[in-house]
Amino acid sequence: MSSPPSSPLTTDRIVIVGAGLAALYAALELAPRPVLMISPEPLGLGASSAWAQGGVAAAMAKTDSAAAHAQDTEAAGAGTVDPEVAAMVTRMARDHILDLTALGAPFDRDPQGHYVMSREAAHSAARVVRVKGDQAGHQIMETLIQTVRATPSIQIIENTEALRLQTEGDTVTGLWIRRADRPSAPVQISCPGVLLAGGGSGGLFAHTTNPPRIRGQVIGLAARAGAMIADAEFVQFHPTAVDCGEDPAPLATEALRGEGAILINAQGHRFMQDLHPQAELAPRDVVARGIFAETQAGRRPMLDTRTALGAEVLSRFPALAETCARAGIDPVKDPIPVAVAAHYHMGGIQTDLQGRASLERLWVSGEAASTGLHGANRLASNGLLEALVYARRAAADIAASIAPPPAADTVPLLHPAFPPATGEAGMDLAALQCLRQTMTAHVGMRRDAAGLTTALRILAQLEVDQAEDEAFLNMCATATLVATSALQRRESRGGHFRSDYPNADPAFARRSRITLDAAHAIRDQVLSTS
Ligand code: SIN
Repeated sequence: MSSPPSSPLTTDRIVIVGAGLAALYAALELAPRPVLMISPEPLGLGASSAWAQGGVAAAMAKTDSAAAHAQDTEAAGAGTVDPEVAAMVTRMARDHILDLTALGAPFDRDPQGHYVMSREAAHSAARVVRVKGDQAGHQIMETLIQTVRATPSIQIIENTEALRLQTEGDTVTGLWIRRADRPSAPVQISCPGVLLAGGGSGGLFAHTTNPPRIRGQVIGLAARAGAMIADAEFVQFHPTAVDCGEDPAPLATEALRGEGAILINAQGHRFMQDLHPQAELAPRDVVARGIFAETQAGRRPMLDTRTALGAEVLSRFPALAETCARAGIDPVKDPIPVAVAAHYHMGGIQTDLQGRASLERLWVSGEAASTGLHGANRLASNGLLEALVYARRAAADIAASIAPPPAADTVPLLHPAFPPATGEAGMDLAALQCLRQTMTAHVGMRRDAAGLTTALRILAQLEVDQAEDEAFLNMCATATLVATSALQRRESRGGHFRSDYPNADPAFARRSRITLDAAHAIRDQVLSTS
């Protein structure tokens, strides 16, 4: 914002913001239609999908069914899952696994060729298709990146981020982008349609399992353009981030508990048995609250894989083995210290069944979207599945809604020349730290009206202080939507726990919807009276 804008560029390409699973898959689904993919980092490095360990939930076994998968999804979602969405997504799951397999995704198979499936929390069956224990996200992404790189209709601009949507009335007509790796002035691009697939919000919190760049920017930029946001208050905290001082915190996949790993505290007590009949395999929000309580009480919760996996933990869960080696933990001999960390945003930009946002010519897929699948608590490994299903649906809807350019194979590549920024100092790291710590302290696992009001006050001040930094304003917008929606939901449900309203209230058994203007109005009213 500190530099004068350069003149707009125009393209016939559909612009895809993001480079994770949803973005790559949508680009392939749209082929041979020309698309431009905006990736804030070199492809593959910074996407949450590449960090996903568990796998993709899909009823592949003869003894399982999409209906049972949908039922588990609704039960975990604690009364706010859209049943039509759950039925559709779980029905589509099998086809997507077969299609990924055909593309070359190396899913684990048994000697008879059947998919090997992991059991994860709150699933009534072993239903998570996986790759080498905890390598699913990484391997699926590698497969798709290779295919995308070999697809001539897909232009990728790396090290570039989206800052703002360009609108005329309620229609998205383009966007503003800039270099993500060095200060540059933004460049305006006019295009026929935009698909946002740029991830969730985990990095808005000081403790997160998400890659460092995933900080609610995409939800924020859509909200600033007027898009409707849904279920913003529902943030999922993963119970077993390895507590080894790293930021982001490395994940210890739930599949470990599916294999029999247990949770103990410093006294060796298996505390989840006191809290839920399914113990370590209770719904994720229940386990997260159990871990959080142990941490708060100073009883150091730990994941104990020793009896269940012995030395096999090292070969069967290579990501965990690497984490432990870095942290100097020997999981064969010792339990692994764990803590909760922000992991997945169930809320996001509201979409319909075709992945359309409330603004015309804007589609969303992946974690940035709120489709109604996850409700208040996402069922494990439904995230990658939702990304696949909605990437395909959004691509089909784009194809049906926007006529392709007449000579698709001659659409030129776009070469934005990013002018150097004048007076741009990069993001204020102290402000970023303040934002993230505020979110963890007041909008995290335990929320109450006083803490949420404090958070809104700090966020309002940060917005004023950082008014020149548009990327920061996008983060603040998402943080404000989360805090405001959490304040409005005066009950506890799924991942949203209010210590001043500790029970679920049937009157709130519905999804929430809010615009950024409405959130600002609520914030201003609350701050003026507190
Ligand atoms: C995990 O592997 O525990 C995470 C999977 C998910 O978030 O769905």
